[in-house]
Order: sequence, then structure tokens, then C-alpha cells
Amino acid sequence: MPLVSMRQLLDEAAKGGYGVGAFNVNDMEQIQAIMEAAKETQSPVIIQASRGARQFAQDRYLFHLILAASELYPEIPIAMHQDHGNSFETCKSAIELGFTSVMMDGSLKADGKTPSTFEENVEVTRKVVDFAHERGITVEGEIGVLGGVEDGHGAGGSGLDHITDPDQAVEFAERTGVDALAIAIGTSHGAYKFTKKPDGSVLKMDVLIAIHKRLPNTHLVMHGSSSVPKDLQDIVNQYGGKLKETWGVPVEEIQLGIRNGVRKINVDTDNRLAITGAIRKVLWESPEKFDPRDYMKPAREAMQKVVAQRMTQFGQAGHAGDYKPVSIEQIAKGYKDGSLTTRPLVAAK
Ligand code: G3H
Ligand code: 13P
Ligand code: ZN
Repeated sequence: MPLVSMRQLLDEAAKGGYGVGAFNVNDMEQIQAIMEAAKETQSPVIIQASRGARQFAQDRYLFHLILAASELYPEIPIAMHQDHGNSFETCKSAIELGFTSVMMDGSLKADGKTPSTFEENVEVTRKVVDFAHERGITVEGEIGVLGGVEDGHGAGGSGLDHITDPDQAVEFAERTGVDALAIAIGTSHGAYKFTKKPDGSVLKMDVLIAIHKRLPNTHLVMHGSSSVPKDLQDIVNQYGGKLKETWGVPVEEIQLGIRNGVRKINVDTDNRLAITGAIRKVLWESPEKFDPRDYMKPAREAMQKVVAQRMTQFGQAGHAGDYKPVSIEQIAKGYKDGSLTTRPLVAAK
């Protein structure tokens, strides 16, 4: 099947009451791991690439690898998404390359580090929405700021520094017309999210639920949603790694989110840990090995296992067959004639 609109995917997920994992990729093996997991679980998928990934792999390689996936797995709906676009230009270049969805992360200025003002965020996100929707492309915006820094992207600091204000979320959704809304509820990118199993004082599921009550039909997005399982940390450390003890977002909290409007769940770190652990194990146990296939194959299998598990836990498993192919041109028409609404339903306080 050709690449699909992320809006179509999230609308379907809302109908079915499930969430869809959005998995970051940088290379062929990660794409293969996701596609094998999608085939195994019959799941629709979101494959996403950060700016760092686009630089690392080169745009054309990345685009053609994902196109290859859509040819090889015609039964799996795939949305190709720009993760954390930092500017209009980044989102425009992703759209021109063939991505079917972009995130305009206007919560930070274009340097990807400094928190922006609400007005700056609305202005740049609205500009991306106008450009993208005319072309049938989905837009995710972000209100509030996540903690941590990944590959130079992020405000740093704690996830509690800039929690989303529900009133601002409503105004942001109304003024920008985004298809999906990322919110900050205390999570951070990377492995070091929480110093113990998170409770409501650091992981603000109550804020998420409050936003969902005000915006009952808006697709919410949880970033920084790796669970950082202890068994994956242990494998890395057992074979020479030096990870400090840490906690991620428990899967049951993500499932609570899914029952409250979360449709897209971003996961990168768990896959990075799985890959690194598998590679470390092979090289530790068999230091004589030097054929990359000897460690890349177990690494790919380890990532496939994590992705398949998340697909099942998020509820997307078994839903690949629900999709009637809708072309990006038809989606563009839908935005134009209003059949694909961009006005959020707002409930009274
Ligand atoms: O946004 C965070 C993702 O984990 C991507 O990270 O910018 O290091 O590729 P990255
Ligand atoms: P993790 O670092 O928790 O995997 O989050 C990934 C993410 O939010 C990508 O945008
Ligand atoms: Zn993110």
C-alpha cells in the first residue's frame, strides 16, 4: 500500500480506541525491525525520523528505505513522519521529500533548545498547517515543553519545568488546526526520565485527563514514552555498559493515556537500549567476531521484540487490515471541503 496519511491512521485509531506507536529510525535495520514486528502483529505503523536521523542517514536513503518497506509489506499501512521539526523550512523539506506527516515542534525556538512564547508557537505551527494541509499532509504540534536533550534537541531540565496548561492547549488547538497535539506531562526524552517508579507527583496523568476532557476529539501524543525496562538496562550493563539506574513511563500509564485520547506514542530509547544490549552481548561473548551481520542480526531481532510488544500493549495489533487506502490527494480535498475537520470540539470547563 502507498504511504498513508497519519491523520487517517489516528482517526482509525480513535474509532478503534487504540494507540499507535511511533518508532524512530536512523537506518535500514531499524526499519526492518519495525516492519517485521508490524507483520507479526498485523499493526498499522508510524515510522518517524528526527532531524538528526535525516542528517545521519541522508534524506534520500531514508525515504527510499521507507518506500521499500511499503513495497515489501503492502498489507501494512505506514505513515512516514518528521519528528520534532524545528522550523517551517524543516517541515517543508520533509513534505517535499515525501513524508506524509510532520511535527512542527514550536514549543522550542528554531535552535531546538530555547522555549518559545505561546504566540511564536501558534504562528509557526499555523504556517506549517496551512502549507501541509493544502498538500494532504498531517501536522502534529506541541504545547508545553518536554524535559531532557536528545542529540542536541530539547530544552534540558526536568520534565516538570513546562507542563502543558489545559486552557492553552485548547487555545492552541483552536488557533492552529493541528491534527494531533503533543503535550508535556512530566516526561523527558532519553533514558533518564524518573529516579524511581513515577507517581502522580512527577508523571501528570491528571493533566492529560484534564486536557482530554476539554478536547475530547483531539488526538493526543505522548513523547518521551519509552518504558526503559529494567531487563534492557541490565543486558546493557551486564556486557560492559554503564547505565545509571533509571525509570521510564510504565506501560499501564500509557494505557491509561490511550483510554483518555492518546493516539500516538513516541518510542525511541527502548529500541536503542535493545539494539545496544544485543550488540554488546555478541561482542562481549565473542570478541573474535567482526562481521557486522553477527551483531546486527541479533540487534534487529531484539528491537523487533520490543516493537511487537509495544504494538500489542498499545492495542494497534490486529488493526492493519482495517484501512481502505485513501490517497494523499483525497486527504487534501477533505481538508479543503471541510470533511476532515480541523476545528477541535471544545467541551466546557
Ligand atoms: O526526539 C527524540 C528522539 O528520540 C530522536 O532523537 O534527535 O537523537 O534522533 P534524535
Ligand atoms: P523516548 O526517548 O522516551 O523513547 O522518546 C522518544 C520521543 O519522544 C521521540 O520524539
Ligand atoms: Zn519527542
